[in-house]
Formats: sequence, C-alpha cells, structure tokens
Amino acid sequence: MNQKVDLRKVKAEELKLIELDTVDINSEVPDFEPQRQYYFMAKCRQWVRKFEQKNGRLPSACVTNMGCQMNARDSEKLRGVLQEIGYAGTDSEDADFVIYNTCTVRENANLKVYGRLGVLHGYKKKNPDMKIALCGCMMQEPSMVEKLKKSYRFVDLVFGTHNLFKFAELLFTALASDRMIIDIWKDTDQIVEDLPIERKYPFKSGVNIMFGCNNFCSYCIVPYVRGRERSREPEDILRELRALAADGVTEVMLLGQNVNSYGKTLERPMTFAQLLREAEKTEGLSRIRFMTSHPKDLSDELIEVMAGSEKICRHLHLPLQSGSTRILKAMNRRYTKEQYVALAEKIRRAVPDIALTTDIIVGFPGETEEDFQETLEVVRTVRYDSAFTFLYSRRTGTPAAAMENQVPEDVMKDRFDRLLKEVQEISREMAERFTGTTQPVLAEERNRQMEGYVTGRLSYNHVVHFPGDASLIGKTVNVRLDECRGFYYMGHTV
Ligand code: 5AD
Ligand code: SF4
Repeated sequence: MNQKVDLRKVKAEELKLIELDTVDINSEVPDFEPQRQYYFMAKCRQWVRKFEQKNGRLPSACVTNMGCQMNARDSEKLRGVLQEIGYAGTDSEDADFVIYNTCTVRENANLKVYGRLGVLHGYKKKNPDMKIALCGCMMQEPSMVEKLKKSYRFVDLVFGTHNLFKFAELLFTALASDRMIIDIWKDTDQIVEDLPIERKYPFKSGVNIMFGCNNFCSYCIVPYVRGRERSREPEDILRELRALAADGVTEVMLLGQNVNSYGKTLERPMTFAQLLREAEKTEGLSRIRFMTSHPKDLSDELIEVMAGSEKICRHLHLPLQSGSTRILKAMNRRYTKEQYVALAEKIRRAVPDIALTTDIIVGFPGETEEDFQETLEVVRTVRYDSAFTFLYSRRTGTPAAAMENQVPEDVMKDRFDRLLKEVQEISREMAERFTGTTQPVLAEERNRQMEGYVTGRLSYNHVVHFPGDASLIGKTVNVRLDECRGFYYMGHTV
C-alpha cells in the first residue's frame, strides 16, 4: 500500500497540492489550521466515495450567495471546499447539499431567507438525505438562531462569519449527525490562509485584504456581525495576487469594509496606498479595483497613487449615506457635507475622468425634508456615475434603531422615488461623456439576451455589450462605445 500522508507534517502552502485520497485519516487530527481543515476534507471525501458507490453518482451541492462582494468571496471559499471534497456543483437548490450564505444589512434580506427555507423543506421531504446549511452575517444575530432552532428544525448546519474557515470540519460533523449543528463565534482575531477557493470567473477575482469594521455607523449592523477590524499581512495578500495572476486572473478587487484604514492594526503598520503600490507590481494583473472606501479615511496619498497608476481602475465607490451634516453626525459618519464635497472635488481634480459611485440611505431617523434636500444637492453637485439608494432599515441592536423620530414609510418611499429619479438622470448624462470614445474592455460573459454578443466592463466600471463570441471572454479588447443607453453602452471592437 502507498504511504499515506500525515497532514501534520505538511506546510500550509503545500496543502493544495496534496491529493485528498492519499491523506492518512487514521492519524491524529491536526490541532492547527489550515491542516485541520484538509484533514476533514479528506474525511468528507471518503463520505463522498461511499455516496457515489451507493447512488451511482456524485452528490450535488448548491451555494447561494445573498450578500455583498465580501459574501460572494466567502461563497467562493465554500465552493472551493465542496469541490475539493468531490461534490458536483449545481445552480439548482434541489440538491444533496444546499447552503445559503446570508446577509443581514437590511431587513428584506432576512425575510427572503425564511421564504426560501420553506421551498428547501419541500425538497428535503423528497430527498431525506439532503443537508441544508445556513451561514453568513444573519447567523451572527442570536435572535435568528433562536428562530431557526424553534421553527426550522429541518436545517442541519448553522455557522457564522468568524468560523467560515471551519466549514470542512462542520460539514463532516453535519454529515455524520442527525442533529442540528450550530457553531457561532462572537468574534475572532484568527485569519486562516491557504484554504481552497473556487472562483466564479477564471479571469477576475475578489481578494480580502481585511475583515470586520470598527466604524459603528449608527444604522449599520456590520460591526456587530463581522467583528473587529483586522488586516491580512501584506505578504499574504501579495502572494495571493501573484498566485491569481499565474492562474490567469487579470483583474482583482481588493475587499474590505473600509479599505482606507487597511494596515492600522498590523504589527508593522502599512497604509492602503502603500499596499496598492506593492499590488501594482504584480506581473500579469492589468486592473485593480477596491471596495469600500470610507470618506473619513481617504488619504491624499491614495489619491496620488490612483492618479499615477496604470492599473488602478478609474472608479471610486465613495459612500455618501446622507448629504445633511446633521444626519451624518447622527449616523456617526465623522465627516460633514462640505468635507465630503471637497473630497470628491479633490479626487476629480487629480483624476479628471474618474467615475464616482456611492451609497445613499433615505429615511434615517429624524431626517427632515430639508435634510433630504441637502442629499439631493450633494447628488447634483458631485454628479455620480451611479448610486445605490436604500430605504433606511431598522436593525435591532444598532443605536439608530432606538432613536426617536423614525421616518414614516410613505415619507421615506416618496423621498426614495425622488432621489432615484435624480440619480438616474445624472447617471445617464454622465455616461454620455464616453459615447464615441474607444475604451479597453474586459469581456466578462456571453450576453444572455442577445445572441452573438458579449458583455464587458470599462475601467470606469460601466457595462458594454458588443458583438463577439466566447473566445473573447477574459480578454481585454478595444471597444468603440457607439451608443449610451443609460446604464450601459452598445459598442463594437476596433
Ligand atoms: N438601512 C439601509 N441601508 C443600510 N446600509 C447599511 N445599513 C443599512 C441600513 N440599516 C447600506 C449603506 C451601506 C450599504 C452597503 O448598505 O448605504 O453603504
Ligand atoms: Fe457599516 Fe459604516 Fe462599517 Fe460600512 S463603515 S460596514 S456602513 S459601520
């Protein structure tokens, strides 16, 4: 018999090269990460082999992502583990394993989960061996877990954001048990590297640079469910960038709740601008994006790096949230309307054609018509390329939830509609500035509506449809933007 591998003796960066079937699962369980998770992946692989023998097919797994880019990246980590174990990926939720990676930033995201769990229960009645799992931000709220325990007993596995790295171990426990497995951590300072990841796109990827948030904007639940801010070591990030580039990735999105405060908690502190300077040196990468920037921490150094860079995309997402200094103060955003507008102007002066996008909340407690008019005024002054607009959602446990003067729903909706109209008109006008120009476009996918067309993105983040076939996907091509149709362009390659 071939010598079996004892994972306790394998270096972290070499784990990905180990064939799981050769792992010695009778050796002691490694008590350190990520070796421990590879051990459990090997155990799960054995389970998959048995499933295959019994059913004559591989078990299927569906990962549904419900949240932001950070969640999407976490879902790629879940898929990476499932694929490594041997599950066949599927988009159908009528599968042997279904996991929802949930979001809780606004209430409607929560309601959607409960609705869909009912559908999953139906599938499980037909396929009693089906396993249903829930993870992500919503699970970090104790009331949600209580509700699941009480009324959704058919759920098999529940875990949170801090122990996502333990997915393989938790999955193995769930496969071997009929009970509901719940493992939620309140916080962590651990960052586990070198676990498998299955990217959605071969040519572009998100890269976490930090986790958590320390800002405590008064409406926001993120600091409670994602924990304290912690940055990855720059060497680990740069190593990941090089590995991605070697694997065919040309565009990366550096991810963090507040990238502008990157590096502050490191033993050897480093600024985000310094990290970008290093990231730019990665051979093979041609585009670097990042998300999200908090206006209060956006430095001159960052603007300078952006202005001088060939690779950093000409797009900045700069959440405004409100244009009223009074409301911004109540939101604990720590900038004034004037400071925000001055910052946007400074960025536009340094990078004149940059696309600015934003997030705006309407109906924060105490928001008056005058406050709302100030938001509209900032929108008209800054002229965003696009803006995500949100109705304020009251999140239990946040300071804003306890504030008086919650804005009535009809008032909120009326303001929302007026804001949306303004934002859309400006986006349309702004997009016209590129009509007739030729731009490098990264072709991302075949167009689902128009046969013979592909869809790609400009550095400015605008979407373009143009005639082409699948061979273009993942390539950067020059496209003339013939016509602007509001939120996207029609063009042709030149
Ligand atoms: N209600 C409405 N929108 C919110 N956001 C965060 N919390 C809330 C809330 N309670 C929005 C903010 C943030 C975006 C990701 O979600 O605009 O920038
Ligand atoms: Fe929430 Fe503010 Fe942190 Fe963004 S910066 S995640 S809005 S608390």
